[in-house]
Formats: sequence, structure tokens, C-alpha cells
Amino acid sequence: MTELKQVPDVMLSAEVIQKRVEEMGAQITQDLKGKPLTVIGVLRGSFVFMADLVRAIDLPMTCDFLGLSSYGSSTKSSGVVRITKDLGDPVEDRHVLVVEDIVDTGLTLAYLLESLETRKPASVQIASLLSKPARRQVEVDVDYLGFTIEDRFVVGYGLDYAGEYRNLPYIGTMD
Ligand code: IMP
Ligand code: MG
Repeated sequence: MTELKQVPDVMLSAEVIQKRVEEMGAQITQDLKGKPLTVIGVLRGSFVFMADLVRAIDLPMTCDFLGLSSYGSSTKSSGVVRITKDLGDPVEDRHVLVVEDIVDTGLTLAYLLESLETRKPASVQIASLLSKPARRQVEVDVDYLGFTIEDRFVVGYGLDYAGEYRNLPYIGTMD
């Protein structure tokens, strides 16, 4: 019955991630004090990171989600992005913090930022847990970055391989 599955090697432990998320939350709390804040999680990969990050931010905020899916194979993003779930509320005049799991080519975020600007937010900032700069195709300005990692496919803490491994409590490598 039990499927034999590969157990990913640890790249970033749950403890290391938690400490960094606390630091990011403290910084965001300082920077965005007094501003009407909307935190937007990019589904599906950011949901674990977002759950921890918002609890490390000591400010009033609303939370919303945007579902994005890029066409392509399970390990390569094609740059063609499709909105699978739109925001629940308008972001006009609000300070938006977009929460991403990882910036890889940058194509998803570039598309997302363009689409958000048309909704007239007061400002847009980006918090991403991970960045793989070696794979960047378009420059995107990440305001709050957890970790820079080498060009390896990672899973866990919200990130998937073919839909699985999102519930792994650490960031692991499979290759
Ligand atoms: P980008 O458009 O190439 O920047 O990639 C954006 C999306 O691709 C991320 O939000 C992830 O969902 C996915 N992705 C990129 N690299 C990885 C990885 O190493 N593991 C799992 N998902 C990844
Ligand atoms: Mg994803």
C-alpha cells in the first residue's frame, strides 16, 4: 500500500526558516507602520509561508489571495501565466505586500505586478521566501527576501513537485 517515495534532502530546516521569517516580519512591521496594509498571497505555493509571515507582522492588515498558474512542465515555468482565482477585494489606495514562495525566472511576478498596477494600489512591495537569481529572465525588485538559493529544484514549505510535498515542514532538494 505505502508508496515508496523519495525523501527530499534538507536544504533549509524548519528552524532556520522560522528564524528568518520572524526577522522579515519584524522588518515589515517597522517599515509599514501606519499604512493600510493588504497582504496578498500568490496561490498555491505561498500559503505556508504566508501563514507564518502574517503572524510575524504586528500590524493591522487584511489578507487576500490571487491564484496564478504558469503553463509548462512541473519543474520549468513557461512565462505564460493564467489567473485561476482573482482577488476578493479591491486594493485601490492600499499598501500591498505580495507574498511569493520563490522568484525563479521572474516572469510570474512581472506579470502579477503589471496586473496589480491597473488596480491603483498606494504601493506594491514583494516578500519572497526564496530567490534563484541564476535563472532570472526579467529583473524584479524583491523588497523582502528570505534566502537566495542555488539553481536546484526545491520542494516543501508550500512548494510542490507535481502537486505534492507542499506539507513538508522544511525546504528540501530532490535532484
Ligand atoms: P517564475 O515565474 O519562473 O519566477 O516562477 C514562479 C513559480 O514557479 C513559483 O511561484 C513556483 O511556484 C514555481 N517554481 C519555481 N522554482 C521552483 C522550485 O524550485 N520548486 C517548486 N516550484 C518552483
Ligand atoms: Mg507554484
